[in-house]
This record gives sequence, C-alpha cells and structure tokens, in this order.
Amino acid sequence: MTNINLEKQHAANAAAMLIKNGMTVGLGTGSTVDYFLKALAKRVQRENLQIVGVTTSFKTAKSAQDLGIKIIDIDDAPMIDLTIDGADEIDAHMNGIKGGGAAFLMEKIVAKNSKRIVWIVDSQKVHVKLGMVPLPVEVVPFGSGKLMAELTKHQLHPTWRKSNDELVVTDMGHYIIDLSLKSIDQPYELERYLDGQIGIVEHGLFLDVVDEIIIGTATGVERLL
Ligand code: 5RP
Repeated sequence: MTNINLEKQHAANAAAMLIKNGMTVGLGTGSTVDYFLKALAKRVQRENLQIVGVTTSFKTAKSAQDLGIKIIDIDDAPMIDLTIDGADEIDAHMNGIKGGGAAFLMEKIVAKNSKRIVWIVDSQKVHVKLGMVPLPVEVVPFGSGKLMAELTKHQLHPTWRKSNDELVVTDMGHYIIDLSLKSIDQPYELERYLDGQIGIVEHGLFLDVVDEIIIGTATGVERLL
C-alpha cells in the first residue's frame, strides 16, 4: 500500500470509531470514504451495530449495500447524526474544496442536514490557501455554454470536466465545470458570486461547514477541531 493510501486508511479507521449504535450516518464519496465504509462494515458485523446510512452518490450507495450497510433515503431520515466525507483540499481555517468525485451537490445536501460533519483526508490535501486543486461547479446543461462564457469573462479559467472525451454527467444529471484558480484569496466573495449565477446548481467550496477534520499520517492521525 502506498503511503497516501495508508494515511487515508488511518483517517478512515479513526472515523469509523466515531460511529455509535443507533446512528444515522451520512456517507461521503471517494477513495478515503471507501476505506471508511470497509472499516464501518467490519464494526457493524462484529459489534452488531444497528445503523443506517444516507448516501451522497449512487456509487457510495452501491458500495455500502454490497458491504451490508443499510441505506435509507435522505427524506426518510429525520436527521443525520454524523456525516463522514472526504475532501480534495483543506486550509488552516477548516474550509475546503470538494467535488473531485463529482458528488459535491449531494454531499452538500447531506452536510446541510447533518448534526455533525467530519472530513477524512490524507496529508497531501492540507494547503495554506485553497485553490491549488480545481474548484468544481455543477451546472444545468441548458445554457451551460453561456455560463461558460460568463465564467471565462470573470477570469475564473473554466474547463468542462470530461471523461473519455465525453462531458461528465453527475448523478443528478448536470455537467461539471472546473475552475483553475491556483489561489483563492477571497473565498467568501467567490462563494457569493457563484451562488448568484443562474444555472449553477452548486459549487465545491465548503466554507464553515465541517466540525472536525481527521488527517491521516504515516503512523496515525491528527485532528483539527
Ligand atoms: C467527491 C469528493 C471527495 O470527497 C473528494 O474528491 C476526495 O476524494 P478522495 O478521498 O478519493 O481523495 O468531494 O465529490
């Protein structure tokens, strides 16, 4: 296992220990969350934990169910007790960029409806400022070319997210535009601008959202609270 995967696994294992009997658990998306799902499934089996999961993507729903974790619809969950999710980048203020796995719209809806949110990351995700990774925005296909032109005019360096030369379509049927910003000096101002654009359904800036971040290290974990 590579060092990074070991770090992811350490963070994931620590997060699995936070789950208590009876909880409704928000299940994020990504490779770090995949380790978490495996660790959680082991606890569910060994300790006969009675928990249910609320998913943030079709992929996570399938992985969780394959591992024996029961999934319920978000609208059937009165409240999500704790959500465990990954992130693409975090800064010292515990803000982050998410969406590398194209699931950030569902992730934000689950986060909004969670009592507590914990992110699990490897040490390479920690940066002084946000922006070293592309910031994704999820857009309605209709008029998305116009939106692309607006984002270009606003000097946000947008590119369509593609896979095998095809536009990526999210679980909710939208396109993704990635903004290559290098450094985000005023994240709240950028958030206000993106929130104000018709046709942008959501963006991957997660400001003042998370309660705890577990950073995996070579030997264990560090926590930001
Ligand atoms: C998906 C996400 C993921 O949490 C993020 O991309 C981190 O993924 P990984 O754990 O594979 O590094 O935001 O939309």
